[in-house]
Formats: sequence, structure tokens, C-alpha cells
Amino acid sequence: MIKKAVLPVAGLGTRMLPITKVVPKELLNIIDRPTIEYVVDETINSGIDTLIFIISQGKGKIIDYFDMDMNLRSFLKERGKLDLLKKVEGVEDKIKHLIEVRQKIPEGLGHAVLMAEKAVGNEPFAVLLGDDLVDADPPCMKQMIEVYTQLSAKTKNHSIIAVEEVPLEDISKYGIVDGERIEEDLIKIKKVIEKPSPEEAPSNLAIIGRYIFDPVIFTYLKQIPKVKGEYQLTDAIQLMIDNGYEVYAYLFKGERFDTGNKEGFFKTILHYASKNSKLKEVLIKFVKENKLT
Ligand code: UTP
Repeated sequence: MIKKAVLPVAGLGTRMLPITKVVPKELLNIIDRPTIEYVVDETINSGIDTLIFIISQGKGKIIDYFDMDMNLRSFLKERGKLDLLKKVEGVEDKIKHLIEVRQKIPEGLGHAVLMAEKAVGNEPFAVLLGDDLVDADPPCMKQMIEVYTQLSAKTKNHSIIAVEEVPLEDISKYGIVDGERIEEDLIKIKKVIEKPSPEEAPSNLAIIGRYIFDPVIFTYLKQIPKVKGEYQLTDAIQLMIDNGYEVYAYLFKGERFDTGNKEGFFKTILHYASKNSKLKEVLIKFVKENKLT
């Protein structure tokens, strides 16, 4: 029922400068794959086959990564490097329908999602941020689609946002939700507050980079004001709620990593390294030898 996903990857990645001058942060490697491939895998493993990438100048390499490179394939075949060939083919055959849309000026996440309007059309769709990883089984988006589908029996034109509990000191970095808990892992949202102070925050439930939207969101994305040069997605979500549309916050099961800043990126690498037996050994040895505990 959710067949299209929007992957906004047009941001400048200033927190990861200077490397992001020339390499999109979404292509930085986490152990054996670029960050964006984890997000693409989650999308596909959630049953979505049409991926709409919102890109900007300098981000074309993200599309190239998933594109067919015939020269490389022939080269690997001629040299008998069949394992590598299989790896490359796996990446290049991954996405069934890839649509590329340009956000000419990076005017914020709200603006990036609005760029997808034509490609999405009039159907509910997913949004997955290209620098947010969720390690979960089943995949986070799959969990969300299931909840979305269950809710469809009772309501329509609803939307779902993934949230996680964050420590008090991190509250001011996120959009925080306020609402009525209707199930242990489901909250009907009344308000979304962008980056509140811990004192004014109504909860510690922070919005992460996974959403399922009713297409009515596009109407509200066109009505929100630009704040400090950016159109905030959360402003459109609030407008949607104010106009009577139901938006739910879902506490997903899994672990989420923000690769868009240096500490988060490092933690993501450590997490995936510790899931690999060889790399885990390296990590433990390093910690011991350097007396880090
Ligand atoms: P971020 O705010 O984390 O990305 O947006 P950013 O703006 O690239 O990062 P900094 O703050 O300068 O370091 C979350 C996601 O939304 C996309 C980003 O590419 C990222 O995947 N985004 C953000 C857009 O596609 N367009 C925008 O105008 C802004």
C-alpha cells in the first residue's frame, strides 16, 4: 500500500565539513556500505519499490552509485573477479524504480519534501532521511507501514512519524511531540515543537527521520513560512494537525543513529563494527591495548 519513498539527500552537510565540500555525507562509508545504502536497504526491505531521491548540485554521485557501470562490470568479468562483480551487480540492481528530483536551493527539509509532489502524486508515501540509520528487525519503515495499515481500518488520511525517547540534554536538538498516548507505542499528536528547551518540552519523544505522510501534507508545505532561510517539515505537520488530520507518533523498536555529525557518525561505525565478529575483535583489542576502559 505504501509503494513510494522520498529520500531527501540535498542538504549541504555543513556539520561534516570539510569532507562534504566534495563527498556527500550520505556516501560516507559505514564499514562496508555508504550510509545511503543502509537507508535504501531499509526502504526496499519494507516493500517499497519506487525511490524518489531529492538531490542538489554535487549530489549526483549518490545516483551514480546505484547506476549501472558497464565498463566496471566488463572489467571485473574479464579479470575473473566474480565475487566483486556480484557485489557491484547487487548494488546496481537494487532499486527497481529510481526517480531523481532536484532541489535547486537547499531551503530546508520541508522544501525538499515538497519537491517530490509531482513524483508522488495523490497517494500516501514514506520519507526516510538519508543520514539517519535505524538498525531494526523488522526494519523501522516496515513496522511503520504495519501500524499505518492497522490504523487505516479505523481512520483515513492519517500520517505517522517515528519517535524515540531522548535524554533531557538532547531535547533541544529535535522536534518534540506532545499528545495523547493511545497505546504503549502510539501517541496521537496534538503538537510538535521544534527544538524546545528541556524546561518547555512537553515530553522527551523526539522525531527521527522516518515518516509516512498522507499527500495532503503538500498543501500545507506550500503554506508554511520560511524561518531562518528554511521551510520546516514540522511546521507543515502542525498545520496538518490544526486542520483536523490525524498524525501519530510511533515508538519504533530498534536503535537509531544520526550519521550527520561527527560523534554520531563515529558511534554508527562502532555499532556496526561490533556486530561483525572480526571487527569486534579488533575493537576489543584496541580498547584493551589503549586502556580505554
Ligand atoms: P539535516 O539538517 O540533517 O542535513 O537534514 P543538512 O542540512 O545537510 O546538515 P547540516 O545541518 O548542514 O550539517 C536532514 C536530511 O534532509 C536533507 C539532508 O540531505 C538530510 O538527509 N535536506 C536538508 C535536504 O534534502 N534539503 C535541505 O534543504 C535540507
